[in-house]
Amino acid sequence: MHTILVTGGTGYIGSHTAVELIENGYKVIIVDNLSNSLIEVLDGIENITGVRPDFEKFDLCDQKKVFSLFEKHSIDAIIHFAALKAVGESVEIPLEYYHNNIESLINLLQAMQKFNTSCFVFSSSCTVYGQPDMLPVTEKAPVKKAMSPYGNTKQISEEIIQDAIHAISSIKAISLRYFNPIGAHKTAFIGESPVGVPLNLVPFVTQTAAGVRDKLKVFGNEYNTGDGTAIRDYICIGDLAKAHVVAVDRLLKTKNKTNYEVFNLGTGKGVSVMEIIESFEKATGIKVNYEIVDRREGDIEKVWADTKYANDELGWKAETSLEDTLRSAWEWEKKVRNIKSKQ
Ligand code: UD1
Repeated sequence: MHTILVTGGTGYIGSHTAVELIENGYKVIIVDNLSNSLIEVLDGIENITGVRPDFEKFDLCDQKKVFSLFEKHSIDAIIHFAALKAVGESVEIPLEYYHNNIESLINLLQAMQKFNTSCFVFSSSCTVYGQPDMLPVTEKAPVKKAMSPYGNTKQISEEIIQDAIHAISSIKAISLRYFNPIGAHKTAFIGESPVGVPLNLVPFVTQTAAGVRDKLKVFGNEYNTGDGTAIRDYICIGDLAKAHVVAVDRLLKTKNKTNYEVFNLGTGKGVSVMEIIESFEKATGIKVNYEIVDRREGDIEKVWADTKYANDELGWKAETSLEDTLRSAWEWEKKVRNIKSKQ
């Protein structure tokens, strides 16, 4: 049985990936400092899989603790999710973002070298493309100057990984560039739990539907798109999690073509903010109160993935429909809020 270290494993994407790994026969060790997630997420993972993953609470910036974890366990691969990820906050406290996101990565790469772990999967973002010149965006599109320190940490991290691989021949890595992950596990035992007011669209939609928020603000309706609202590629969290299992398996079985590979994880379909509202209403039968307001600073107009490379090379494809995904987000919100089904 291979042992996978999942950093940030009590977070949104990490927890769904831990479930998929366990269900595919991997042993999972989670490290998380719980700065943006709850220990109860472990109960959710256990409820779904029947297995409680090993858990250690510490900060990956602490190199001694990272090294002692590797001394204790024989780790075959790392999936590195742990990072600060709020775009606006990163503009306010850039040094914390650089320190946290970069130092933790370096500590993990150094541990890989010292303890002979060879496989690394990195949690990257389509934010590295900025507003692409051509859509859908392929992995070959140029990386554009980051619009925020958060985005810059993703770009710098990808560069650090490539430099490390160049120098340390035992290490190989895959960067997965996520588009917009949404939804929750189909059992509603785990989902997205933003702390405070949600910054992302779908948690704001579900909280508005639940009556926790008065009104969803739609940021701008004069973009150059069909209905004037901005377009993104929303991917089901379960489908996204499955791609991590494929990526780890690819590295462990040496199916990778080069020692550093990059894949887009999206659906290939662009969906506007208004279409998200309409699909949510259709999927759940609940009206979402909204108003159109000014654009949000730093937002791009439209982006969606070219998924051909990931589909062909990984043999992976996003399969869950948008409506099913939005319904799963709503089931999770209801569970969190204890709302009985209105349907
Ligand atoms: C954001 C980040 C991105 C990060 C991702 C995951 C920015 C500019 N980008 O992506 O780098 O990787 O989150 O955390 O912040 N919207 C509304 N009303 C809302 C919230 C959002 O209309 O209350 C709109 C936005 O303008 C956008 C779309 O919904 O057009 C999606 O927004 P969001 O969920 O925040 O994701 P991104 O901005 O695409």
